[in-house]
Amino acid sequence: MKVFLETYGCQMNEYDSELVRAILKKENYEFVPDERHADIVMLNTCAIREHAHRKVFGRVHSIHHARNGKPVMIGILGCMATNLRQEIFEDRSMKIDFIAGPDSYKRLPGLIREAAGEGDKPFDVTLSEFETYEDVYPSRKQGINAWIAVMRGCNNFCTFCVVPYTRGRERSRPVANVVEEACRLADEGFKQVTLLGQNVNSYRHENADFADLMEAVSRVDGIERVRFTSPHPKDFPDKFLELMADNPKICKHIHIPLQAGNDRVLDLMDRTYTKEEYLGLVDKMRRRIPDVVLSTDIIAGFPTETDAEFEDTLDVLRRVQFDFAFTFKYSERKGTIASRKFPDDVPEEKKTGRVMRLNELQKEITYQKNRAHIGEVHTILLEPAMGPNPEGRFVGRTDGNKLVLLPLGAFRAGQMLKVRVTDATPHALRGRPAEV
Ligand code: 5AD
Ligand code: SF4
Repeated sequence: MKVFLETYGCQMNEYDSELVRAILKKENYEFVPDERHADIVMLNTCAIREHAHRKVFGRVHSIHHARNGKPVMIGILGCMATNLRQEIFEDRSMKIDFIAGPDSYKRLPGLIREAAGEGDKPFDVTLSEFETYEDVYPSRKQGINAWIAVMRGCNNFCTFCVVPYTRGRERSRPVANVVEEACRLADEGFKQVTLLGQNVNSYRHENADFADLMEAVSRVDGIERVRFTSPHPKDFPDKFLELMADNPKICKHIHIPLQAGNDRVLDLMDRTYTKEEYLGLVDKMRRRIPDVVLSTDIIAGFPTETDAEFEDTLDVLRRVQFDFAFTFKYSERKGTIASRKFPDDVPEEKKTGRVMRLNELQKEITYQKNRAHIGEVHTILLEPAMGPNPEGRFVGRTDGNKLVLLPLGAFRAGQMLKVRVTDATPHALRGRPAEV
């Protein structure tokens, strides 16, 4: 059987697709790069923000259309699976053969067999308190960076977020098991690992916390750099910041999702910190790790957010001076606490206007921050350039995760190279090898 697998959404979904590949390859399924040559098309869906709904339904129609009557089996995986099971099966025009939620991928071979039979279309969207896939080694593309999911799920229930419903409760893998995966990756030539989790710094297994895990992974020979995403501001103990400051393999980039800068809105979101507490955390991070690069996520137009309250978010942006920020319009998600308690009452144009103001301000800050690096020497980890790069075939990332464009030269992927920054744009730095 030939499978075409398409992945939407976040890195965790990309990782899960690597798990799915491993699980099915073991059963002799073959993966093909074109849906027209597949017997089974699987869409690994995302439910976090966009109208994933419409997008996936449109995609299912387009697949049937492209097949021109030739039969194909279609499976829906990922976060939408959990939420939309009912709807998907009720919509008769939607030709879907099986559904598997994020904790059910080991059952895929069985679901596919059932789907090929005569009975009802099979689904399994059960959420597990235990499944971590620690016994599955993902089938990855060769490269420089490998992702390792170290924990899954989320217990925070921020009121806007659908993740706790689509991915269930937090659970973590044993330290030794993650280290084993990192060793194997180093043997295969990977130079960097990024530890992944919906709430990665809430990692806990027996007596080990996230700092213990990062430390253990950083000791793996051959792995030059360790990163992590995505954390919650509530879990940054001093022990972790000290480790980051002192351990050269742990990259000095922290993504700290702010979401909003106003205390009333933060409370409605149930983020568990105030604006001042957040600013205090940033100060502490900068004191311990002076050159730390900070990035964030922001939601504009949460229900009842006023213009004046939104100004508090801009104020935090100005005061913190993040290196970069991801901005989103609030989008109501079915089943969340916010969808039950707070009507989505900020008009769409207002949300758009707020996101535009955030982006304008942040663009200028990012540009200034990037320009401040001109003249500095940074060590970058080289990777092949994606897409057309008029200057060279390689790019690199600084320890702080900033992209550096390089001129043509005798470089190789995976090399650690000292460069001097010669120029900067709002999106990247330019550099050339530094004379030693
Ligand atoms: N609407 C808009 N943005 C959201 N995010 C999560 N849920 C929503 C939502 N309902 C954003 C948050 C989070 C990022 C991954 O996606 O900013 O940090
Ligand atoms: Fe969603 Fe909050 Fe959990 Fe992040 S921490 S996944 S925003 S509920």
